[in-house]
Amino acid sequence: MRLPPGFKLITLEKVDSTNNEAKRRAEMGAVSGTIVHASEQTHGRGRRGRQWYSPKGNLYFSLILRLPCSATEGLGISFVSATAMCDALAGIVSPMTEVTVKWPNDILINRRKVSGILLESATGLNGTLRWLIVGVGVNVSSFPGETEYPATSLQYEGVIGARPDDVLRAFMRHFKRWFDIWENDGFSSIRTAWLNRATGIGKTIKVRVSGKVFEGELLDIGDDGSLLVERKTGETISIMTGDVFPSDEI
Ligand code: BTN
Repeated sequence: MRLPPGFKLITLEKVDSTNNEAKRRAEMGAVSGTIVHASEQTHGRGRRGRQWYSPKGNLYFSLILRLPCSATEGLGISFVSATAMCDALAGIVSPMTEVTVKWPNDILINRRKVSGILLESATGLNGTLRWLIVGVGVNVSSFPGETEYPATSLQYEGVIGARPDDVLRAFMRHFKRWFDIWENDGFSSIRTAWLNRATGIGKTIKVRVSGKVFEGELLDIGDDGSLLVERKTGETISIMTGDVFPSDEI
């Protein structure tokens, strides 16, 4: 497979989780730009301790990055990755199909989740990232039935013959482009690009944060990537981690 320069691909058959495999390799000195890709995962992990449905036929990979920045600055990569995957999938589905991002880094096709991203990192004593792992899953040919947020796959959305490799290649191309913009211009350009692809801005949403549910209007995302929600009381709250749902869903 041809990848943009600077990436090194390691393809494996079955692993517990490509993020776990990437972590092991990062600790052993794997270079920045290494991608660990597997055909299936036995213990695929999602955000907030959830499982990630991982049979053969879908895409699972983890990208190892070594960036000279803090973990907070590194969060920009979450938005770089979501924007890149949104663009990659928009180029694969038929024209006019709605492909959007949902805070913080889910990709939706026709309002159903097709891809999720799990960022994990390790920081040195001086507060600089030792490594950052961007773990990405894309439902290419199948999707789980019982999910809190409705799921979908590329095949279900009418993409015929899509292969996980094609999606990975398209992602890396867009990732390289948005990564360069992030490095050169900082988070603000990524924030704008992400907002242009976002679902729910200006709408009433519910956000679940550690078991509590907040309802309000989705206003914006902050300079640090937090979600800004205006509650009915008029108060604006800033949320760093949580799950967003349309207001009638939970
Ligand atoms: C989410 O909850 O939306 C994030 C899902 C991330 C899944 C990917 S699949 C490749 C990598 N390995 C894992 O175990 N998880 C991530």
